[in-house]
Amino acid sequence: MEKDMQVVITGASGFIAKNIRKYLSANDVKLISISRHDFKKVKNETKFITKNYDEKVIFSKLKNSDALIHLVGIGKQTIDNDYNQIHIELTKKIINLCKKSKIKKIIYLSGLGVSQNASLGYFISKYKAEKLIIDSKLNYTIFRPSYIVGKDDYFTKYLKKQIKAGQIQIPGSGNYSIQPIYIDDVTKIIFNALTQNNFSKMILDLVGSESITFQKYVKEFSRGTSTQIKKINLETVYHEAISKPDCEFGVDDLNLLIGDFNGDYKKLKDISKIKFSSILKLLKTGSLL
Ligand SMILES: NC(=O)c1ccc[n+]([C@@H]2O[C@H](COP(=O)([O-])OP(=O)(O)OC[C@H]3O[C@@H](n4cnc5c(N)ncnc54)[C@H](OP(=O)(O)O)[C@@H]3O)[C@@H](O)[C@H]2O)c1
Repeated sequence: MEKDMQVVITGASGFIAKNIRKYLSANDVKLISISRHDFKKVKNETKFITKNYDEKVIFSKLKNSDALIHLVGIGKQTIDNDYNQIHIELTKKIINLCKKSKIKKIIYLSGLGVSQNASLGYFISKYKAEKLIIDSKLNYTIFRPSYIVGKDDYFTKYLKKQIKAGQIQIPGSGNYSIQPIYIDDVTKIIFNALTQNNFSKMILDLVGSESITFQKYVKEFSRGTSTQIKKINLETVYHEAISKPDCEFGVDDLNLLIGDFNGDYKKLKDISKIKFSSILKLLKTGSLL
């Protein structure tokens, strides 16, 4: 069945998209991948470059596709690129594109911590995007990911850079926890969500089996290196994030990190039926370094 499947991917040059495109291509899924920038194609892939996902230009290219994986998202706002525009307005466009090109299923990556009680702008915009998708009458699977880690994700690259500089900084106590999931598990789960009906109309936390304090994560991550681990006063870290808008770790990155969000791993495990990788084992073997 997968042999004849055709899938559209938005935000095609992003971290998750790159890994999914590779996995789907290796599984003989035909891809139509959309990005603002040129990128290297994989097997079975048609690429499409657009700056603004203009319907008139894209629509004709998407015909005969079975599903769309919507991977456009931002974690930091600017005047020209805010959450409302990118998470809500662009998702409206994508839903319309699905309807016009008769794509029946959409897979969306929201965020762990999103709920109807959300109070952070990032979460509110993701919640509204989820709601647009649910109300669209398209078939959907919405994933709410914790940190998706591999060798070249943003979070891992950020820690590696600090190791290179000789010191990893922990904002505040480091006692808050994260529930990371391995990118290779994510690609398998998304493939299953494309091909199996039990993912229909589901909202699932995309989390690994282990909830790990940030302090422990950093210790294991830097094991075997001579990196100094230093706790930094939260006020100092927030001040830096607020006053230097182009600093690597923004205010929302901090909010998400110290938010201590944990998800429903059991539900994901029961539905996906994949064998999950242990992040602690990957850290111990240095596979993420
Ligand atoms: N990675 C994680 O741990 C994680 C955790 C929670 C949620 N998520 C969500 O998962 C999705 C994919 O994440 P990712 O880690 O792969 O992020 P990423 O590497 O930053 O990719 C996101 C992509 O969004 C597109 N994009 C950004 N700004 C845009 C704009 N103004 N107009 C049009 N497209 C724009 C870009 O695609 P092009 O450059 O190809 O145009 C970018 O590569 C996002 O929605 C993110 O919020 C990820």
